[in-house]
Amino acid sequence: MNENQSIKIENLVKKFGKGESEVTVIDGANFTLNKGEFVALVAPSGAGKTTLLMMLGCVLEPTSGKIEIGDEVVYDNKWKVKDDRELRRKKIGFIFQAHYLIPFLNIEENVSLLPYQNGESKKVVKPRVKELLDYLDMSDKLHNMPSELSGGQNQRIAIARALANEPDIILADEPTAALDRHRAISVVKMLKKITREQNVTIIMVTHDDRLLPFCDKVLTIKDKKIQIEEKSNEDII
Ligand SMILES: Nc1ncnc2c1ncn2[C@@H]1O[C@H](COP(=O)(O)OP(=O)(O)O)[C@@H](O)[C@H]1O
Ligand SMILES: [Mg+2]
Repeated sequence: MNENQSIKIENLVKKFGKGESEVTVIDGANFTLNKGEFVALVAPSGAGKTTLLMMLGCVLEPTSGKIEIGDEVVYDNKWKVKDDRELRRKKIGFIFQAHYLIPFLNIEENVSLLPYQNGESKKVVKPRVKELLDYLDMSDKLHNMPSELSGGQNQRIAIARALANEPDIILADEPTAALDRHRAISVVKMLKKITREQNVTIIMVTHDDRLLPFCDKVLTIKDKKIQIEEKSNEDII
Protein backbone atom coordinates (compact mmCIF):
# COMPACT_ATOMS: atom_id res chain seq x y z
CA MET A 1 0.00 0.00 0.00
CA ASN A 2 1.09 3.52 -0.75
CA GLU A 3 1.74 4.95 2.70
CA ASN A 4 0.78 8.41 1.53
CA GLN A 5 -2.72 7.21 0.67
CA SER A 6 -5.61 8.71 2.59
CA ILE A 7 -8.74 7.55 0.75
CA LYS A 8 -9.07 4.76 -1.78
CA ILE A 9 -12.31 3.56 -3.29
CA GLU A 10 -12.74 0.60 -5.63
CA ASN A 11 -15.82 -0.31 -7.63
CA LEU A 12 -18.01 1.69 -5.30
CA VAL A 13 -21.73 1.35 -6.07
CA LYS A 14 -24.67 3.11 -4.42
CA LYS A 15 -28.27 2.36 -5.24
CA PHE A 16 -31.32 3.68 -3.50
CA GLY A 17 -34.66 1.91 -3.39
CA LYS A 18 -35.64 -1.56 -4.47
CA GLY A 19 -37.34 -3.17 -7.46
CA GLU A 20 -39.03 -0.75 -9.86
CA SER A 21 -38.07 2.28 -7.85
CA GLU A 22 -34.37 1.37 -7.67
CA VAL A 23 -32.04 4.22 -8.67
CA THR A 24 -28.31 3.82 -9.20
CA VAL A 25 -26.47 6.99 -8.17
CA ILE A 26 -22.83 5.80 -8.20
CA ASP A 27 -22.03 2.89 -10.49
CA GLY A 28 -18.53 1.54 -9.99
CA ALA A 29 -16.39 4.48 -8.91
CA ASN A 30 -12.62 4.26 -8.41
CA PHE A 31 -10.12 6.83 -7.15
CA THR A 32 -7.27 7.30 -4.74
CA LEU A 33 -6.42 10.47 -2.83
CA ASN A 34 -3.25 11.21 -0.91
CA LYS A 35 -2.61 12.78 2.46
CA GLY A 36 -2.54 16.55 2.44
CA GLU A 37 -4.52 16.97 -0.78
CA PHE A 38 -7.17 19.62 -1.24
CA VAL A 39 -9.80 18.11 -3.53
CA ALA A 40 -12.89 19.69 -5.06
CA LEU A 41 -15.98 17.63 -5.87
CA VAL A 42 -17.99 19.27 -8.61
CA ALA A 43 -21.11 17.90 -10.31
CA PRO A 44 -24.67 19.04 -11.10
CA SER A 45 -27.32 18.97 -8.43
CA GLY A 46 -28.61 15.44 -7.84
CA ALA A 47 -25.48 13.80 -9.31
CA GLY A 48 -24.55 12.15 -6.02
CA LYS A 49 -22.01 14.47 -4.34
CA THR A 50 -23.56 14.32 -0.89
CA THR A 51 -24.15 10.58 -1.30
CA LEU A 52 -20.45 10.05 -2.06
CA LEU A 53 -19.34 12.23 0.84
CA MET A 54 -21.63 10.43 3.28
CA MET A 55 -20.29 7.04 2.18
CA LEU A 56 -16.68 8.24 2.59
CA GLY A 57 -17.69 9.55 6.00
CA CYS A 58 -19.09 6.12 6.95
CA VAL A 59 -22.51 7.65 7.52
CA LEU A 60 -24.25 6.02 4.56
CA GLU A 61 -23.76 2.36 3.66
CA PRO A 62 -22.69 1.70 0.05
CA THR A 63 -24.39 -1.03 -1.98
CA SER A 64 -21.06 -2.69 -2.84
CA GLY A 65 -17.38 -1.99 -3.39
CA LYS A 66 -14.48 -1.08 -1.17
CA ILE A 67 -13.48 1.98 0.87
CA GLU A 68 -10.11 2.44 2.58
CA ILE A 69 -9.47 5.35 4.92
CA GLY A 70 -5.76 5.71 5.69
CA ASP A 71 -4.46 2.17 6.10
CA GLU A 72 -7.81 0.77 7.21
CA VAL A 73 -10.35 -1.05 5.05
CA VAL A 74 -13.60 0.36 6.42
CA TYR A 75 -15.95 -1.18 3.90
CA ASP A 76 -15.57 -4.24 1.69
CA ASN A 77 -19.04 -5.20 0.54
CA LYS A 78 -19.97 -4.68 4.18
CA TRP A 79 -18.69 -2.53 7.04
CA LYS A 80 -15.33 -3.79 8.25
CA VAL A 81 -14.97 -1.56 11.29
CA LYS A 82 -16.31 -2.68 14.62
CA ASP A 83 -17.50 0.77 15.52
CA ASP A 84 -18.20 3.16 12.66
CA ARG A 85 -19.13 5.93 15.08
CA GLU A 86 -15.74 5.71 16.71
CA LEU A 87 -14.04 5.78 13.31
CA ARG A 88 -16.04 8.88 12.37
CA ARG A 89 -15.21 10.62 15.61
CA LYS A 90 -11.51 9.90 15.41
CA LYS A 91 -10.61 10.11 11.74
CA ILE A 92 -13.18 12.25 10.00
CA GLY A 93 -14.27 15.87 10.34
CA PHE A 94 -17.40 17.25 8.72
CA ILE A 95 -18.19 20.80 7.60
CA PHE A 96 -21.59 21.65 6.14
CA GLN A 97 -23.13 24.55 4.25
CA ALA A 98 -24.81 25.77 7.40
CA HIS A 99 -22.40 25.80 10.30
CA TYR A 100 -24.69 23.94 12.75
CA LEU A 101 -23.00 25.40 15.81
CA ILE A 102 -25.02 24.86 18.94
CA PRO A 103 -26.64 28.24 19.69
CA PHE A 104 -26.61 28.01 23.48
CA LEU A 105 -22.94 27.00 23.79
CA ASN A 106 -20.15 29.52 23.39
CA ILE A 107 -17.43 29.13 20.76
CA GLU A 108 -14.99 27.35 23.04
CA GLU A 109 -17.68 24.90 24.16
CA ASN A 110 -18.82 24.24 20.59
CA VAL A 111 -15.30 23.41 19.44
CA SER A 112 -14.55 21.31 22.54
CA LEU A 113 -17.66 19.17 22.35
CA LEU A 114 -16.38 16.30 20.22
CA PRO A 115 -12.99 15.86 21.91
CA TYR A 116 -14.79 15.69 25.27
CA GLN A 117 -17.18 13.13 23.80
CA ASN A 118 -14.12 11.15 22.77
CA GLY A 119 -13.14 11.04 26.41
CA GLU A 120 -10.25 13.48 26.21
CA SER A 121 -9.37 15.46 29.30
CA LYS A 122 -9.79 19.15 29.89
CA LYS A 123 -6.02 19.46 30.27
CA VAL A 124 -5.55 18.30 26.67
CA VAL A 125 -8.63 19.86 25.08
CA LYS A 126 -8.45 23.39 26.48
CA PRO A 127 -5.01 24.30 25.11
CA ARG A 128 -5.71 22.51 21.82
CA VAL A 129 -8.91 24.49 21.24
CA LYS A 130 -7.11 27.74 22.12
CA GLU A 131 -4.34 26.93 19.69
CA LEU A 132 -6.83 26.02 16.96
CA LEU A 133 -8.77 29.23 17.34
CA ASP A 134 -5.51 31.14 17.32
CA TYR A 135 -4.57 29.35 14.13
CA LEU A 136 -7.87 30.36 12.54
CA ASP A 137 -7.52 33.92 13.82
CA MET A 138 -10.56 33.57 16.06
CA SER A 139 -9.04 33.36 19.54
CA ASP A 140 -10.67 36.62 20.64
CA LYS A 141 -14.09 34.96 20.13
CA LEU A 142 -13.54 32.12 22.58
CA HIS A 143 -16.30 33.30 24.93
CA ASN A 144 -18.71 34.68 22.34
CA MET A 145 -21.94 32.99 21.34
CA PRO A 146 -22.47 31.87 17.69
CA SER A 147 -25.21 34.51 17.26
CA GLU A 148 -22.61 37.22 17.93
CA LEU A 149 -20.47 36.16 14.97
CA SER A 150 -20.87 36.75 11.23
CA GLY A 151 -21.57 33.91 8.77
CA GLY A 152 -17.92 33.76 7.70
CA GLN A 153 -16.70 33.76 11.30
CA ASN A 154 -19.11 30.97 12.25
CA GLN A 155 -17.87 28.95 9.29
CA ARG A 156 -14.31 29.33 10.61
CA ILE A 157 -15.52 28.02 13.95
CA ALA A 158 -17.14 25.08 12.14
CA ILE A 159 -13.71 24.43 10.58
CA ALA A 160 -12.12 24.58 14.04
CA ARG A 161 -14.71 22.11 15.28
CA ALA A 162 -13.96 19.74 12.38
CA LEU A 163 -10.23 19.97 13.22
CA ALA A 164 -10.62 19.59 16.97
CA ASN A 165 -10.42 15.81 16.72
CA GLU A 166 -7.25 15.94 14.65
CA PRO A 167 -8.94 14.03 11.81
CA ASP A 168 -7.13 12.49 8.83
CA ILE A 169 -9.80 13.66 6.43
CA ILE A 170 -12.32 16.50 6.34
CA LEU A 171 -15.47 16.24 4.26
CA ALA A 172 -16.95 19.62 3.46
CA ASP A 173 -20.36 19.80 1.73
CA GLU A 174 -20.64 23.23 0.09
CA PRO A 175 -18.92 25.00 3.00
CA THR A 176 -18.85 28.34 1.20
CA ALA A 177 -22.32 28.30 -0.38
CA ALA A 178 -23.76 30.71 2.18
CA LEU A 179 -20.84 33.14 2.00
CA ASP A 180 -20.11 36.05 -0.32
CA ARG A 181 -17.17 35.70 -2.72
CA HIS A 182 -14.64 37.45 -0.52
CA ARG A 183 -15.47 35.31 2.52
CA ALA A 184 -15.71 32.16 0.40
CA ILE A 185 -12.15 32.70 -0.83
CA SER A 186 -10.90 33.37 2.66
CA VAL A 187 -12.46 30.10 3.92
CA VAL A 188 -11.02 28.17 0.97
CA LYS A 189 -7.54 29.61 1.57
CA MET A 190 -7.87 28.52 5.17
CA LEU A 191 -8.85 25.00 4.10
CA LYS A 192 -5.90 24.85 1.74
CA LYS A 193 -3.52 26.00 4.45
CA ILE A 194 -4.87 23.22 6.69
CA THR A 195 -4.17 20.53 4.08
CA ARG A 196 -0.60 21.76 3.76
CA GLU A 197 0.21 22.33 7.41
CA GLN A 198 -1.73 19.50 9.04
CA ASN A 199 -1.43 16.89 6.27
CA VAL A 200 -5.21 16.54 6.29
CA THR A 201 -7.03 15.53 3.10
CA ILE A 202 -10.02 17.77 2.41
CA ILE A 203 -12.79 16.99 -0.07
CA MET A 204 -14.91 20.06 -0.68
CA VAL A 205 -18.16 20.02 -2.65
CA THR A 206 -18.55 23.30 -4.48
CA HIS A 207 -20.55 24.87 -7.29
CA ASP A 208 -18.17 27.78 -7.57
CA ASP A 209 -15.65 27.37 -10.40
CA ARG A 210 -13.68 30.32 -9.06
CA LEU A 211 -12.58 28.19 -6.12
CA LEU A 212 -11.12 25.41 -8.28
CA PRO A 213 -7.69 27.01 -8.81
CA PHE A 214 -7.06 26.55 -5.09
CA CYS A 215 -7.49 22.77 -5.31
CA ASP A 216 -4.98 20.02 -6.15
CA LYS A 217 -7.51 17.69 -7.76
CA VAL A 218 -11.04 18.00 -9.06
CA LEU A 219 -13.44 15.05 -8.85
CA THR A 220 -16.53 15.07 -11.04
CA ILE A 221 -19.39 12.60 -11.27
CA LYS A 222 -20.17 11.74 -14.87
CA ASP A 223 -22.41 8.90 -16.04
CA LYS A 224 -22.47 7.68 -12.41
CA LYS A 225 -18.67 7.28 -12.46
CA ILE A 226 -16.05 9.49 -10.84
CA GLN A 227 -13.55 11.32 -12.99
CA ILE A 228 -10.45 12.82 -11.49
CA GLU A 229 -8.51 15.76 -12.84
CA GLU A 230 -5.15 16.78 -11.46
CA LYS A 231 -4.59 20.51 -11.52
CA SER A 232 -1.23 21.57 -12.89
CA ASN A 233 1.12 23.28 -10.47
CA GLU A 234 0.71 26.64 -12.15
CA ASP A 235 -2.96 26.56 -11.25
CA ILE A 236 -2.21 26.18 -7.58
CA ILE A 237 -2.27 29.46 -5.78
N1 LIG B 1 -32.12 8.50 1.01
C1 LIG B 1 -32.36 8.53 -0.30
N2 LIG B 1 -33.33 7.77 -0.84
C2 LIG B 1 -33.59 7.77 -2.18
N3 LIG B 1 -32.89 8.53 -3.05
C3 LIG B 1 -31.93 9.31 -2.57
C4 LIG B 1 -31.60 9.36 -1.18
N4 LIG B 1 -30.58 10.24 -1.01
C5 LIG B 1 -30.29 10.71 -2.23
N5 LIG B 1 -31.08 10.16 -3.17
C6 LIG B 1 -31.03 10.43 -4.63
O1 LIG B 1 -29.70 10.26 -5.05
C7 LIG B 1 -29.34 11.25 -6.02
C8 LIG B 1 -28.11 12.00 -5.56
O2 LIG B 1 -28.42 12.83 -4.44
P1 LIG B 1 -27.35 13.72 -3.71
O3 LIG B 1 -26.18 12.85 -3.35
O4 LIG B 1 -28.00 14.43 -2.61
O5 LIG B 1 -26.91 14.71 -4.88
P2 LIG B 1 -26.06 16.06 -4.82
O6 LIG B 1 -25.48 16.20 -3.47
O7 LIG B 1 -25.03 15.89 -5.92
O8 LIG B 1 -27.02 17.16 -5.17
C9 LIG B 1 -30.56 12.13 -6.20
O9 LIG B 1 -31.25 11.67 -7.35
C10 LIG B 1 -31.38 11.87 -4.95
O10 LIG B 1 -32.74 11.99 -5.22
MG1 LIG C 1 -25.69 17.69 -2.00
